[in-house]
Amino acid sequence: MESKLREIRERVLGELAKAESSAALEQIRVGVLGKKGELTALLRGMGKLPPEERPKAGQRVNEVRAELEGALEAKGEEIKAREKAARLEAEAVDVTLPGPARGAGSLHPMNIALERMIDIFVGMGYEVVEGPEVEYDHYNFELLNLPKNHPARDAQDTFYIDDNIVLRTHTSPVQARIMTTRKPPIRIVCPGRVYRADEADATHSPVFHQMEGLVIDENITMGDLKGTLDEFARQMYGEGIRTRFRPSFFPFTEPSAEVDLTCANCHGEGCRMCKGTGWIEVLGAGMVNPKVLDMCGIDSKKYSGFAFGMGVERIALLKYNIPNLRYLYENDLRFLTQYR
Ligand code: FA5
Ligand code: MG
Repeated sequence: MESKLREIRERVLGELAKAESSAALEQIRVGVLGKKGELTALLRGMGKLPPEERPKAGQRVNEVRAELEGALEAKGEEIKAREKAARLEAEAVDVTLPGPARGAGSLHPMNIALERMIDIFVGMGYEVVEGPEVEYDHYNFELLNLPKNHPARDAQDTFYIDDNIVLRTHTSPVQARIMTTRKPPIRIVCPGRVYRADEADATHSPVFHQMEGLVIDENITMGDLKGTLDEFARQMYGEGIRTRFRPSFFPFTEPSAEVDLTCANCHGEGCRMCKGTGWIEVLGAGMVNPKVLDMCGIDSKKYSGFAFGMGVERIALLKYNIPNLRYLYENDLRFLTQYR
């Protein structure tokens, strides 16, 4: 019994000295002190000893057990401290290292073009005005000489909120809002989002942007309109740009024109984007219809004016030689970050 006890004690103390992890320690503890451990077995076996030897033997076993428990605990503390130190070292963060780089953002190419457009007109003395995207039929159509059932409404078929409220089909309602509330002289541009039930293709989107322009004063002529738009094109695209004024029709202007620029994709050769014509339509324009002036409370005998509505996406396509309007909406950073 005593020799067995000594053998266990020596061996366990030896194992403890070599143990390196909490797990190894636990294994040793279970092997000697656990329910099926060696010391526990020794205690159980005491019944076989002669009665007079039992107290002495019991005391010895308990001494060894206490010693081993103490040694286990001391070793446990040591290992825990070492494991904690190792964990702290592994988790250490070097706060002096630079953080992950965050690329600088940039404006969307359409907004870069729009800011340039606004700059050009502000430079010519225009004021920037905005209007609502959810608009009364009254401003979007009626005051622009497009009464209900007018066939020209079909060209701008839109999304109706109810009989009297629409998602605006163009920025022209801002003209009507300004003419009904201000007195000439008026010189404004109105950028903003517009909506149409249009199929998406290389030059169309059901949601797009326009920038309206309106000038009202005495003695304003078609020559002023042409000169203004030519000057805009020159400042936007440089001396080499060519404009083409085509006679057109809008109920709110008379006479009316649509203005095309040389196709940016084929440079006038004719391609899919310009449907073989070599030209891209970028805006509608004309002299404000006297009927509209009068409806909006401006004396058409005294005043005249011109107006235009530019497609902002189209202006951007031509500015940056982008072959398809859809690229502007795909949010592909490889595309967008080229325009800073
Ligand atoms: C108009 O919207 C008139 N309000 C313009 C106007 C204003 C005329 C003032 C006279 C006086 P139009 O439907 O042609 O006209 O559109 C004007 C421009 O918006 C077009 O030349 C084109 O550049 C752009 N545009 C039209 N539809 C779309 C579309 N679905 N997607 C992208 N751009 C479009
Ligand atoms: Mg048009």
